[in-house]
Amino acid sequence: MQKCSLFLFSGSGNTRFVASNFASELSAKYSVSTQEIDKITRGFETIQDDFDITGIIYPVHALNAPAIFFSFIKDHLPEGKGRKAFIVKSPGDPFFQGGSSYQVRKALTEKGYSVVHESMIVMPANVFLRFPDHFITEICLNAKEKIASAAREIIEGKERRHRNSLLVNISTAVFSAMEHAGSFFFGKDLKISDRCTNCGKCIIECPVRNIEEGKKEKPVIGWKCMICMRCIYGCPADAISPRTLKFFKVEWYDLKKLSDTDRSTFTKTENVRPFYKRYREYLDNKEAF
Ligand SMILES: Cc1cc2nc3c(=O)[nH]c(=O)nc-3n(C[C@H](O)[C@H](O)[C@H](O)COP(=O)(O)O)c2cc1C
Repeated sequence: MQKCSLFLFSGSGNTRFVASNFASELSAKYSVSTQEIDKITRGFETIQDDFDITGIIYPVHALNAPAIFFSFIKDHLPEGKGRKAFIVKSPGDPFFQGGSSYQVRKALTEKGYSVVHESMIVMPANVFLRFPDHFITEICLNAKEKIASAAREIIEGKERRHRNSLLVNISTAVFSAMEHAGSFFFGKDLKISDRCTNCGKCIIECPVRNIEEGKKEKPVIGWKCMICMRCIYGCPADAISPRTLKFFKVEWYDLKKLSDTDRSTFTKTENVRPFYKRYREYLDNKEAF
């Protein structure tokens, strides 16, 4: 059986959901292994270089992959030697195809991979926008269907690449450069409230080791934040929030519970607000991924 290695990053759980559904769909043809790239970049895991095809699965940050992907591809991913790769984006909205994939495609190509398939699996936004639970459920159920279709194409060897317009390429370069530079300040804007029990979870889980034990009761946040939101949504005491950029944090949703909803009894979200119209087009179009 051929081997497929999936490499993902997930700040708040959405991309982990996408990757695990991809893994089960792809197991119809491949022996699949899944690794979270920050465990590799932090030295907790190593990569077994015996795969035939690889999948790079990322949450969209400012129309691009988070910066950690570029260092992962450059410094950790084994040489491609002509092997096939596919790209999966899990953005929080369906606009601009989840941004341009040209930078990730270029990094993979330079590493010797042949990028044969790209897909976009829209998940709930983890910043700015908090949808009603019913709509989040619909997005997750739809994601499972789109993942099944995209995985089938990969298994059948069908090629699909996103065609990004020049405008999207330029927007991606500009917004993502701004995000990469501004992310350090976001970390410094985070406040740890007195609810903190000093349990250490944020210190252990920060993908870029940006949170350290403090001299007093609370941890201390440094200058390396990548705005993944993991410490914010993962804190058991809900003690971490932005001071000024409050709109980044949304009321959290139970992804597991909502996505486990029975599809056969689920009805489409009615009275979709005008802003959601574009989502409706995406959700109703089975080919859109
Ligand atoms: C800093 C940041 C920037 C983001 N930028 C975008 C964006 O440009 N376009 C988009 O569709 N979603 C954007 N999102 C939303 C996430 O890509 C989306 O919710 C994703 O599914 C989160 O995955 P995760 O839970 O695995 O981290 C952004 C999220 C963060 C934290």
